[in-house]
Amino acid sequence: MLGNFSYHNPTKLYFGEDSLNYLKDELKKYGENVLLVYGGGSIKKNGLYDEITAILKECGKNVAEVPGVMPNPTSDKLNEGVEIARKNKSDFILAVGGGSVCDYSKAVSVSVHCNDDPWEKYFIRFEEPDCKILPVGCVLTMAGTGSEMNGGSVITNHKCKLKIGHVFGEEVMPRFSILNPRYTMTLPKYQMCAGIFDIMSHICEQYFSGEDDNTSDYISEGLMRGLIHSSRIAVKDPKNYEARSNIMWTATWALNTLVSKGKTEDWMVHMLGQAVGAYTDATHGMTLAAVSLPYYRHIMQYGLKKFARFAVEVWGVSPTGKTDEQIANEGLAAMESWMKEIELVMTISELGASDDMIEGIADATTILKGGYKVLSRDEVIKILKESM
Ligand code: NZQ
Ligand code: ZN
Repeated sequence: MLGNFSYHNPTKLYFGEDSLNYLKDELKKYGENVLLVYGGGSIKKNGLYDEITAILKECGKNVAEVPGVMPNPTSDKLNEGVEIARKNKSDFILAVGGGSVCDYSKAVSVSVHCNDDPWEKYFIRFEEPDCKILPVGCVLTMAGTGSEMNGGSVITNHKCKLKIGHVFGEEVMPRFSILNPRYTMTLPKYQMCAGIFDIMSHICEQYFSGEDDNTSDYISEGLMRGLIHSSRIAVKDPKNYEARSNIMWTATWALNTLVSKGKTEDWMVHMLGQAVGAYTDATHGMTLAAVSLPYYRHIMQYGLKKFARFAVEVWGVSPTGKTDEQIANEGLAAMESWMKEIELVMTISELGASDDMIEGIADATTILKGGYKVLSRDEVIKILKESM
């Protein structure tokens, strides 16, 4: 049965090849002092930086910049951005990049007027903001995280070896996001595929929990089928606009707060993947790929009906004459061959994890209770060893 919920997502989206045309109108709604946040240089190479700065100039904005936001943005980088925003009296943040840039911008937005240490307050104590929050707008260049339409912000602290996400409320979600699939065309294939698996994982995390008959699961199955279809096209032909645009739109729907409504959620793959990320600084989507199958094979027996449904509805496995266990196993085998087909990294050792890290990664793994089995620390270690 669907639980009770309220639903409101305030992010306005502009989607498609002409979507940047709407930036000017959006910028008019916000203050003069813009903080332009971007990553390690891809937007300078592909020309987007020049286009955006020209629009900002045309709008008469005073622009301060935070360049160099790294994949898996760090707490030190967060402190640096907060200082720049304070010094320049920034009143609006424009994030141009992937999930890292967008997540980072949200973290800055709740920290500029906060007297506390942001890492401690938001990522260790999980407190909600009690200060003025700067509005954030996003021009997305990579499909995967859903950060463009959610309140999530994931920050890594290398000193404590922790990578932690805080899901903020509506007031922190981007006010608008510009989604032009063309911008994702310059992504290296490795990042494109990591993003595709991140999308798949977000849907699975919300799907593999609960046994109710609810609308969200039917939406999720449709999203997964579409994603698998488009990913197969995009891997062979990365310039295929139709496939890339479908992937981008699926990424937004996969984690824009809709499909989780009224149901329980798992998120253990992300907890394991984030802990691996804290130790290796590996690409987010690849950390998820490397732990997913050992985790799902471990918990399958506890959620057998759902895993069998997944096999039939998502992977087209024929159920005739088979037990639920056989069907479920065939579904995970189909998922495995798709993951290999789209060239995902299938082990954490390939991502830089070594045997001596396993205990530490297990300690850095938050154990959540929404999935089919609440893991013990020993089970976490077993899954990590099987992911090596
Ligand atoms: O830094 P630049 O030079 O821009 O290069 C980036 C980066 O190296 C590159 N890139 C992005 N767009 C490009 C491009 N290169 C060429 N052309 C383009 N158009 O791709 C690399 C990865 O970018 P990043 O932003 O790190 O990737 P992603 O979007 O996957 O974001 C990952 C971060 O988001 C967090 C992850 O944990 C990770 O820290 N997540 C955020 C979530 C949320 N807000 O809800 C949920 C996710 O589960 C995830 O945890
Ligand atoms: Zn993710």
